[in-house]
Amino acid sequence: MKTIVAYRSRSGYTKRYAQWIAQELGCDIKEDPEFSDIQGHDTIIYGGGMYAGGFNGVKLITKNLDKLSGKKIALFAVGSNPGRAHEMKPFWDRVLTAEQQKKIGCFYLRGGFDFNKLNAKDKVLMKMLKIRLQSIKERTEDEQGMLDAYETPVDFSDKENIRPLIEFVRK
Ligand SMILES: Cc1cc2nc3c(=O)[nH]c(=O)nc-3n(C[C@H](O)[C@H](O)[C@H](O)COP(=O)(O)O)c2cc1C
Repeated sequence: MKTIVAYRSRSGYTKRYAQWIAQELGCDIKEDPEFSDIQGHDTIIYGGGMYAGGFNGVKLITKNLDKLSGKKIALFAVGSNPGRAHEMKPFWDRVLTAEQQKKIGCFYLRGGFDFNKLNAKDKVLMKMLKIRLQSIKERTEDEQGMLDAYETPVDFSDKENIRPLIEFVRK
């Protein structure tokens, strides 16, 4: 069975998870994949960062599901949010239908946030968010955590987080 971990990563968090997964499974790995890179594999694992509620590059999978039928597929999204189930549900519902979620593995692996690692466009976007966060008088714990992360990068990535995904792929 040929397995591949394909991923897109803007600041390195998804990349690190992809490397841990590929190492654990002893499988192929491909950054910035094209459809031709994943097509010939029986198991496809795709990972990407969460950006403004979107899933970086996941269309490579969701737009080609008909061509991927019969293959085992697992998706992992990497964000800086704590990954509470009720907050992640709307995200997954935007990515896949309820029917698709029964077959495709959906995993959230918490990454981190490092302002200095962002590209110029993301820096502008995040500066705008910072101004909005600063204007909130009574910030939630998450909002305050996000604001603090501009000064001190946060990294929640942990190899143990890949376990459920590995189990899904192996079973
Ligand atoms: C412009 C921008 C938007 C973001 N939006 C979200 C978001 O909606 N939800 C979230 O959990 N994290 C969000 N993040 C944080 C990233 O998902 C997080 O840094 C992740 O670890 C990035 O992974 P990557 O470096 O592999 O792309 C955002 C970061 C940036 C720069």
